[in-house]
Amino acid sequence: MLRTPAAVQDAERHTAHNYHPLPVVISSAEGSWVTDVDGRRYLDCLAGYSALNFGHRHPALIAAAHAQLDKLTLTSRAFVHDQFADFCRELAALCGKELVLPMNTGAEAVETGIKVARKWGYQVKGVPAGQANIVVAEGNFHGRTTTIVSFSTDSDARADFGPYTPGFRIVPYGDLAALAEAVDEQTVAVLLEPIQGEQGVVVPPEGYLPGVRRLCDERNVLFVADEIQSGLGRTGATFACEQEGVVPDMYLLGKALGGGIVPVSAVAADTDVLGVLRPGQHGSTFGGNPLACAVATEVVRLLATGEFQRRSAELGERLHAGLRALVGSGLVAVRGRGLWAGLDIDPALMSGREACERLMERGVLAKDTHGSTIRLAPPLVITAEEIDHAVAQLAAVLAG
Ligand SMILES: Cc1ncc(COP(=O)(O)O)c(C=O)c1O
Repeated sequence: MLRTPAAVQDAERHTAHNYHPLPVVISSAEGSWVTDVDGRRYLDCLAGYSALNFGHRHPALIAAAHAQLDKLTLTSRAFVHDQFADFCRELAALCGKELVLPMNTGAEAVETGIKVARKWGYQVKGVPAGQANIVVAEGNFHGRTTTIVSFSTDSDARADFGPYTPGFRIVPYGDLAALAEAVDEQTVAVLLEPIQGEQGVVVPPEGYLPGVRRLCDERNVLFVADEIQSGLGRTGATFACEQEGVVPDMYLLGKALGGGIVPVSAVAADTDVLGVLRPGQHGSTFGGNPLACAVATEVVRLLATGEFQRRSAELGERLHAGLRALVGSGLVAVRGRGLWAGLDIDPALMSGREACERLMERGVLAKDTHGSTIRLAPPLVITAEEIDHAVAQLAAVLAG
């Protein structure tokens, strides 16, 4: 008898229903593949929303975690530990920034970015106390805290969680004129995803990110790039901003930084920005802990080789070519960059959820987002043959 149905029910019983998972119960994984409790294998084309860029249980990352587990796991930042300096130095170098501030989840990195931008606004730019505003984009996804959902435009994410945090202005994504209009003397930051992941891997029009950079320079505003999902190799470069020739003032990083093992996030910026924080003004018990640093240092070293960015760029071409061939045969549109794709399925055919269920039956795991859109974000260790396999399964699902 299959164990999956009972295991799915069991997983629901004592859980708040804040997720609607596909009915698959995973018990082990390696590389691009996961295995369920009944021994069935699936190609993982979600990769933990890009937290598994290096695949499941990458040997170098697992080795770093094991070695660290045997030595030291937590100190708190009340003391310095021996994994901290290497991590901060190497991540700062990867980002081309002077300083980093380690946290845990992506939402914490975003909150940190907001706090730093506001403090910079008051202390460096000279914004009058309590007047700072931050401009964000429609369709954003930056996390789930009460402040972050305050400037979400997704009613599921936002409704009934007020009162909302003031100090944010929302403009259409990709619209430079609207952005220029929204920025005023009290604007301390423009906070954007260089590609909007949760919105369906939405790539802004060419010239938008350089335009944002120019505007921020002209108006003395920080450009804060949320690269939590787009960064660290996903789009075929270390940062999605890089592909537009843009360097933001602040990078927000997370997901893949933890190597799929532990939550690790960070803010990276130069001293004139991140240097505004003094002891007692921000922190986290677990942020920058020894286990996190040991794993994340190894992540940074993997990225420093350039191999994963290259794989993502080259294999991304193959993925997008395969997907583009399905436009008109069940797909309405395909977007994305590198090994990251948002697909709009013809809504007359099926919903995104239905497509993901059918893909699952064919041994491919993906995740729907709004309506009939699904996302593909396989681990960057995926092979050309595995990409072809995923595209073939999708073609079969669309063919009904
Ligand atoms: C762009 C972006 N920012 C922030 C977050 C929040 O990260 P976390 O779920 O680790 O809090 C996400 C998560 O999907 C994201 O995609």
